[in-house]
Amino acid sequence: MSAKTIGVIQVKGGAGRSTVSTNLAGELSKLGKTVLIDCDMPQGTSASWFAVRQQAETKQKPLFSENLVADTATNHRELVSKVEQYQDAEFIVLDGPPRIAELTRAILVLADLCLIPVGASAAEIWATSDLLALIEEAKQVKPVNARMVWTRYRGHTRLAQELSELATKELGLVALSTALGMRVAYMEALGGGLTVGELSEPSAKAEVKSLIDEIQKLLRKKP
Ligand SMILES: Nc1ncnc2c1ncn2[C@@H]1O[C@H](COP(=O)(O)OP(=O)(O)OP(=O)(O)O)[C@@H](O)[C@H]1O
Ligand SMILES: [Mg+2]
Repeated sequence: MSAKTIGVIQVKGGAGRSTVSTNLAGELSKLGKTVLIDCDMPQGTSASWFAVRQQAETKQKPLFSENLVADTATNHRELVSKVEQYQDAEFIVLDGPPRIAELTRAILVLADLCLIPVGASAAEIWATSDLLALIEEAKQVKPVNARMVWTRYRGHTRLAQELSELATKELGLVALSTALGMRVAYMEALGGGLTVGELSEPSAKAEVKSLIDEIQKLLRKKP
């Protein structure tokens, strides 16, 4: 396989999977051909984001690079065949479903790197523990490179410190050093078919740039 595949999974709904997936896909497409596969149908947040993005493009050309393709997968067989079909791309981003499903298992096995967004709350950390068994299962098939990504993070607060400690104790998952803060820009970008970089909100833009830099380093190293 030659495309670098990044899976975004979480069993807790609303954790920020689509926010991470759409920002990654939109920004990675500026580096090379990128395919965003929405595995959370029929909700289809990433697919809707892409449709809004295309409308924005026709209104205001030229807006972005045309290196982004969007697709959907409704079951694990379809996902496996689509990932094979898109091997000519540089990057494939998989927006996962909010439950333990065959699709989540397939993402863990197909991805070179799995990101697990965790919103800054104890409930999200507890819910994430359900993923651990699934990660262990996938490790029987192939090495798994999984990292937590803090979303809606409020650094420098006592709560953030306590949550990091809770996550390390309960999950033992390594977190990326980049955390996405709680910012209106993430909500605006999702609804507008944009990335926070394209909105030019400096703090969020810097977070996503740092996320991409960190991911690229991890993708160069194999687990
Ligand atoms: N860092 C953030 N700051 C502020 N709002 C955020 C952030 N991340 C996500 N949100 C908002 O939280 C909501 C849920 O995020 P998102 O849709 O990315 O999560 P999800 O895990 O894909 O959810 P679903 O289970 O609905 O698919 C959205 O309205 C989104 O704009
Ligand atoms: Mg979603």
